[in-house]
Amino acid sequence: MARELTEVGVVGLGTMGAGIAEVLARAGLSVTAVEVNEDALARGRGHLEHSTDRAVSRGKLDPAERDEIFGRIRFSTSLEDLAQAELVIEAVPERMELKTEIFAALDKICPSDTILATNTSSLSVTELSVATGRPSKVIGMHFFNPAPVMKLVEVVQTVVTEPSVIEDVEALAERLGKVDVTIGDRAGFIANALLFGYLNHAVSMYENRYASREDIDAAMRLGCGLPMGPLALMDLIGIDTAYEILDTMYKQSRNRLHAPSPIIKQMMTAGLLGRKSGRGFYTYAQRDSAQVV
Ligand code: 3HC
Repeated sequence: MARELTEVGVVGLGTMGAGIAEVLARAGLSVTAVEVNEDALARGRGHLEHSTDRAVSRGKLDPAERDEIFGRIRFSTSLEDLAQAELVIEAVPERMELKTEIFAALDKICPSDTILATNTSSLSVTELSVATGRPSKVIGMHFFNPAPVMKLVEVVQTVVTEPSVIEDVEALAERLGKVDVTIGDRAGFIANALLFGYLNHAVSMYENRYASREDIDAAMRLGCGLPMGPLALMDLIGIDTAYEILDTMYKQSRNRLHAPSPIIKQMMTAGLLGRKSGRGFYTYAQRDSAQVV
């Protein structure tokens, strides 16, 4: 019988972490949301305010419900505030050394039965698990962007994850209104392993001037019924995040499909990170709305 988790933590309040914190608080859980400093915390809070305000303005959320959601989230700059958490979901940038440092710290702070989950999309969950003294309680819980909207959670088990931990996390995903798929620990899991070869190919078509960004995106939206074209989706995911995912998958599999198209690294270096920086393949005049320039 799965444990009903009620006290949870989220570490990292970027696009994904803030979305995950929102999903957890909306489902009635008590959330401690931790960022590295006050500025990052204010930005994370801003993501949550933007997302919930948008839901209020569309008549999807009551202002009182929004206040209740915020009432369930404690914002903090200290990992020590996670000492009571039954589950912590880490959602910091995709850098192994940063994640292992956080896992090692959480291992010291949290009770021995706390589940430590990572939202990594391509790094090894097994490698993270051995940074702790509790590898059997470490698991992947991979959400999709935008987390409040996308229904899937990939639950990633390692060769030592305890079955009860998998059950607890699967049960939580269902309480969050998500559909879970449970898989082993391989870069890209299911969705990214299939998606990123396609995205990379679309970028290379654009880079080789085979077709315009608008035509590439229109072809996939209107010809294949996807909600968004691949270049717009790259901007949503974030060019830096997309690069890290492709690079990790390429290093692991040596599959040429995943060798990042050169322009991705160039855009990243130039700070064209997609929606979050205001410019990627497209330019974004205001938050969330694409404007072709
Ligand atoms: N946060 C919260 N809610 C959001 C949102 C956001 N950032 N963006 C959109 N929404 C909500 C809207 O409020 C709206 O809700 P409603 O139906 O209850 O009113 C609903 O989503 C639809 O939004 P819109 O009408 O504004 O726009 P669209 O119909 O074009 O949908 C979209 C936007 C949901 C982003 C859709 O275009 C889509 O599904 N795109 C594909 C996204 C995708 O493929 N994500 C996976 C990326 S890969 C990944 O995340 C893995 C990682 O490891 C990188």
